Amino acid sequence: MDVKNIKTVGVLGCGLMGAGIAQIAAAAGYKTIAREVTQELADKGIGNIKKQLERNAAKGKITAEEKDKTIANLTGTASLDDLKNCDVIIEAITEDIKLKGEIYSYLDKICPAHTIFASNTSSLTITEMAAYTQRADRFCGMHFFNPVPVMKLVEIVKGVRTSDETFDTAFELGKALGKTPIAAKDNSGFVVNFLLVPYLLGAIRAVQNGTASIEDIDKGMMLGCGYPMGPLTLLDFVGIDTTYRIAEIMLKEYGESMYACPPLLRKMFMAGFYGKKSGKGFYDYSTGTPVVNPEIVNYIK
Ligand code: CAA
Repeated sequence: MDVKNIKTVGVLGCGLMGAGIAQIAAAAGYKTIAREVTQELADKGIGNIKKQLERNAAKGKITAEEKDKTIANLTGTASLDDLKNCDVIIEAITEDIKLKGEIYSYLDKICPAHTIFASNTSSLTITEMAAYTQRADRFCGMHFFNPVPVMKLVEIVKGVRTSDETFDTAFELGKALGKTPIAAKDNSGFVVNFLLVPYLLGAIRAVQNGTASIEDIDKGMMLGCGYPMGPLTLLDFVGIDTTYRIAEIMLKEYGESMYACPPLLRKMFMAGFYGKKSGKGFYDYSTGTPVVNPEIVNYIK
């Protein structure tokens, strides 16, 4: 399919990543249908996008007209059937292959032949997800970065059976969404997470080992390497739960100890310290200005 024929984009999941993807798709002029498990969650996701657009309009980054047009392009739904007329469906749900597989298998039956399925997976492979459908040639990866409206990159991933035509369309769609696409092979983590995840897990090991305080590890990487965020702040931003799942998947795929989940990450996951989204991770966000989470400091001392 030529990218010019894409009119309607479906987005599965309207959380941190899904909402960002829905926002840029609607802003690029596509009719965008974002699906969540309940209508309440879909409305919440769309509400977050509206708030972000209003902030952008208030700052003068977009005009009031652009904001209204983007909002008019957005619909939130709890029904998978509402995605049946989409030209492309971008999936951004939790990293659970069984769950993804069930949804792909259902959509495969109701969507027309031309619909491209693209996964925003961080660590699963495109080839294993495509196996749940009869359209492995029209299945690819489109991996965006958080915050989606700000980060310039999208990784376009070709699975074993992805056709060149599907890859080219996804690559052009990435550009139409205002991103810079790069081509990546279907190896777990693609380019960015292959390099980033061992670094983030290393930062957690440094906390466990008492190498330095949480703030100093962050300060070290910001001031020493010029990173915009320290690794522990970035972990809170990406999500402790998400990172935990990614590490488990990458360890299974590569069997290399650098992907092994540090005990502290597992404990934080079990304790519900998911990072910014839950209010607490390495930092506590409840007062507006993040402060180091005293429960973590207590636990590691
Ligand atoms: N959503 C939308 N826009 C946001 C935002 C959000 N969550 N957070 C910040 N922004 C915008 C702000 O509105 C601001 O825009 P203007 O300058 O035009 O007003 C701009 O981003 C900069 O924000 P701030 O001045 O508030 O803060 P900052 O300069 O510290 O930048 C940041 C914030 C862009 C997030 C920056 O800290 C950064 O680049 N951090 C690293 C992010 C990163 O590494 N992301 C990749 C994570 S890995 C991943 O996503 C893949 C995976 O599979 C795990």
